[in-house]
Amino acid sequence: MKIEIQSSPNEVAEFAAKYIAERIKEKPEFVLGCATGGTVVLLYQKLVEYSKLGLIDFSHVVTFNLDEYVGLPREHSQSYYTFMSYHLFSHVNIPEDNIHILNGGAKNLKDECEQFEELITKSGGIDLQILGIGRNGHIAFNEPGSFEDTTTRIVDLNYDTILANSDGRFFSNSNEVPRQALTMGVATILNAKEILLLATSGGKSEAIALAVNGPVTPLVPASFLQKHSKCTFIIDDGAASRLKNK
Ligand code: F6R
Repeated sequence: MKIEIQSSPNEVAEFAAKYIAERIKEKPEFVLGCATGGTVVLLYQKLVEYSKLGLIDFSHVVTFNLDEYVGLPREHSQSYYTFMSYHLFSHVNIPEDNIHILNGGAKNLKDECEQFEELITKSGGIDLQILGIGRNGHIAFNEPGSFEDTTTRIVDLNYDTILANSDGRFFSNSNEVPRQALTMGVATILNAKEILLLATSGGKSEAIALAVNGPVTPLVPASFLQKHSKCTFIIDDGAASRLKNK
């Protein structure tokens, strides 16, 4: 595991965006795993900027998103489908057919998850997965208690996650937050050829310290990333503040 410490959220986003742009230049049919949430907004802003400057061509890029709420229609303002369209996809030249986001409104959610795994395999696997991290150590919606062999599935959201997403940034109160989601599993994420985890602010420092310095345990799903051969944490000073041996 590699740790890149940057001095601000803006530098975290810039470091990650430059890296992703380089990787897409090397392999135009890049398979990119996307995350949602507050942390990655700046990263997507930079990717849009680079795309407008002609520095990234998304025309052959294929994407798979980590997760989606169950029960929210795609057009809901807080669906991850809407988030991705608003922050990235509607601003770049990616073909609609290349975008894969789990459908939390599918009739058969189990089939939806199985088909998603099959599509990832058919695409040749994810070249680079972008991740955020929850304050509780979750990655995607793999909440504490998620095991290493989990694949894409239906999960119940942890109460911490419901509260974190109802602080006004996304939903305005906890009753509005769906209780379930579809999420890539820990094994699905670990199968990506490369992983970039972004974290900013002191609020993430405990989760980062546990993920990096703590034991590998389902109680901190991000700690499984210690086992990945090409995983980089790109974090700011605040998120790095509790790391040992900086
Ligand atoms: C989102 C996701 C989540 C977030 C995490 C951090 O697709 O999978 O794991 O990455 O909850 O969210 P923010 O960035 O809002 O703190």
